[in-house]
Amino acid sequence: MNNNLWYRDAIFYEIPIKSFYDSNNDGIGDFNGLTMKLDYLKDLGIDAIWLLPFYKSPLKDDGYDISDYYSILPEYGTIEDFKNFINKAHSYNIRVIADLVINHISDQNQWFIDAKSGINSKKRDWFIWSDTPDKFKDARVIFIDTESSNWAYEPRTKQYYFHRFYSQQPDLNYDNPEVREEMKNVIRYWLNLGLDGFRADAVPYLFKREGTNCENLPETHEYFREIRKMMDTEFPGTILLAEANQWPTDTKEYFGNGDEFQMAFNFPLMPRIFIALAKRSSKPIIDIINQTLDIPDDCDWCIFLRNHDELTLEMVDDEERDIMYKEYAKIPKMRLNLGIRRRLAPLVDNDRSTIELLNALIFSLPGTPILYYGDEIGMGDNIYLGDRNGVRTPMQWSYDRNAGFSGVYAEQLYAPVITNPNYNYEGVNVDSELRISSSLLNWMKKIIGVRKDYTELLGRGTIEFINNPNKRVLAYIRKYENQRMLCLFNLSRRPTYIELDLSNFKGLKPVEAFTKAPFPRIGDLPYFITMPPRGFFWFNLVIPETDDSMDFEGEDDY
Ligand code: NOJ
Ligand code: CA
Repeated sequence: MNNNLWYRDAIFYEIPIKSFYDSNNDGIGDFNGLTMKLDYLKDLGIDAIWLLPFYKSPLKDDGYDISDYYSILPEYGTIEDFKNFINKAHSYNIRVIADLVINHISDQNQWFIDAKSGINSKKRDWFIWSDTPDKFKDARVIFIDTESSNWAYEPRTKQYYFHRFYSQQPDLNYDNPEVREEMKNVIRYWLNLGLDGFRADAVPYLFKREGTNCENLPETHEYFREIRKMMDTEFPGTILLAEANQWPTDTKEYFGNGDEFQMAFNFPLMPRIFIALAKRSSKPIIDIINQTLDIPDDCDWCIFLRNHDELTLEMVDDEERDIMYKEYAKIPKMRLNLGIRRRLAPLVDNDRSTIELLNALIFSLPGTPILYYGDEIGMGDNIYLGDRNGVRTPMQWSYDRNAGFSGVYAEQLYAPVITNPNYNYEGVNVDSELRISSSLLNWMKKIIGVRKDYTELLGRGTIEFINNPNKRVLAYIRKYENQRMLCLFNLSRRPTYIELDLSNFKGLKPVEAFTKAPFPRIGDLPYFITMPPRGFFWFNLVIPETDDSMDFEGEDDY
């Protein structure tokens, strides 16, 4: 296989440095700590890491407000620590991409400090200024809980500057060629230090034009195509992953003609998976997947259940949003902006079958799965921590002090560990879960292993939904060359059954992929299957070698 397509076969894992492991006991995770935990990640089976912003920053937006693009926040370590980490990750065959935050910077950045020093300052035109807050009226406010406008007043020069996120994050002016060039230099700097690519933050908003909503403008696409070209030429094999939280047609645009982003998060799919569960209906998933197919060769979706932000509900209709709030955000504190600030396990009331079903979906739908740190052990959250901090608490390694994350006194930690009795770190931690075969962590290792057994089929195969009158069950076939996998999901909380027309596969035998348990050969009649509540099956469809009467023999467990 073409190795430059590594991202299509990979399993990604998202990490905020601060939250992973504290190597020097100051209460904050760091690069050396992360390096020490690479063995864990290797053992888990992931292939690529996405690092959240680790650059110098006052942390108003947890690092998405960069005050110096060419240095690392001292608490996280040094450039040497960074290089060590990258080298060791590469020696484990783990690739590393990092956040590229280019729409905006921190108001503490020298560029902005210079810009606001006077209207004739050198960097003045690196930002977007106006005498009134009236321009770009159709640009929506994103952090609606904290910001009432995209303009903030700067008293010294008596003008307003534009910001899409917090007012402490002034947007850069991409009409200025110096800005466009500087960001290319930032990209070169970090790729030269060994990164394998970037997750580009807030990509739809770079260019602004009066009379539009200032999202997805042609100029923005063109600039990313320029960046891609530069990366392909100067750093072949590196990738760009788009964070573009948009409707399906607009999100797909970020693949260009295969000359823009290699990957984009499947934001349209994510909330609809949860809606499908709430409605006990396969329809939302089928509809949205059908709208996200047909992307250029060599491009792929990144599919995820949760990340470091609130579960965003910007790109769903009002009815869908109501369903989501009703089902998943029963307490007002669980909401933030237009979303829900909870981790995966609490979202589904810690129901193990549902957690398994959801993971089985993102590991078998078309695209590259990406896991959020801690969700593999079923970590809880803390909705009382403010902003999105409740889903960014210390990783739980053991039942030692501070969940084994750090040796400091608890009050010195950057954030408290989760102590809610249902998710207490004393039970929910890596060490304890590795010791018990039925743990979520061991199940996650298993599904990652099974996915790897079918890398080409599940990573690159086509998908075809199988029509069946029972809407509770989502059924599809993945196909790649002569391999086929039948995937079934009972989205409801009650047992159910389906009869599937599998006549195209007559003569083949379904073999359950996790346990290799054989099922009866597909014949002329509709294929009948019963499914437990929130149960799922992955059946590898094989040419039978053995006599069906032997099916009850063999190993029972995995
Ligand atoms: C998206 C990031 O995921 C989020 O954490 C951040 O606040 C905004 N972009 C602004 O950079
Ligand atoms: Ca530290």
